[in-house]
Amino acid sequence: MKRLEKLYEGKAKVIFKTDNPDLVIQYFKDDATAFDGVKKDTVNGKGVANNSISSKLFELMKKNGIETHYEEKLSDNEMLVKRVEIIQTETIVRNISAGSFCRRYGFDEGVEFEAPTVEFSYKSDEYHDPLMCDDHIRVMGLATEDEIFQMRTMALKINQILQTFFDSIGITVVDFKVEFGRYKGRIILADEISPDTCRFWDKVTKKKLDKDRFRYDLGDVEETYAEMMKRIGD
Ligand code: TMP
Ligand code: ASP
Repeated sequence: MKRLEKLYEGKAKVIFKTDNPDLVIQYFKDDATAFDGVKKDTVNGKGVANNSISSKLFELMKKNGIETHYEEKLSDNEMLVKRVEIIQTETIVRNISAGSFCRRYGFDEGVEFEAPTVEFSYKSDEYHDPLMCDDHIRVMGLATEDEIFQMRTMALKINQILQTFFDSIGITVVDFKVEFGRYKGRIILADEISPDTCRFWDKVTKKKLDKDRFRYDLGDVEETYAEMMKRIGD
């Protein structure tokens, strides 16, 4: 599939047109940003790792009945995906307290929740991805009540699938963010699932195996992306 003109460039990926109007190429960059783009750097090998990891995890989703935009991995950095209309909310599932949950509420990190939580935020660097309740998503016209229900239901199912898989390779799924898109009247999983968009902790050593190593200068950033690609199985 030939790469045509650039359609969109985000902080970590670029989307290119193809000669099929229903399909686009998602290119994973080595660029890393944090805090709404304030911190910026290059992480060698991140694009290759995230493309490989996302491909595997999208295949895992498909096997377990979650429809995704994933078609096939085209090269080290490129993935062929369905062209969707991205819903401008991020859906976040948390199993253990970390990140903005702790910052926002002054809550300790590492507390396991009785049941997973689902929250939505507005996809906007300008406004710092603020939390959104269902009614605000609806009045902003970002998604309908039925779409919100579907996103919440799918996110919880994705959580179960991820937990089962990562448990088998000795990793705890602390939390993650997913994005959904509209495709031919359906809501499907889009974007990526990678150490950029999830928090993963090693079950034994408790080592953080995700983008928090970059966000908080914890060291071993490149090594961690490479290790995750290996553990997930390339
Ligand atoms: P948070 O604790 O900072 O709200 O992050 C929750 C999860 O969402 C975590 O797994 C990292 C992921 N995430 C993104 O994918 N993109 C973002 O812009 C942010 C802030 C978090
Ligand atoms: N991707 C986000 C940004 O650069 C933040 C993050 O992942 O922490 O703005």
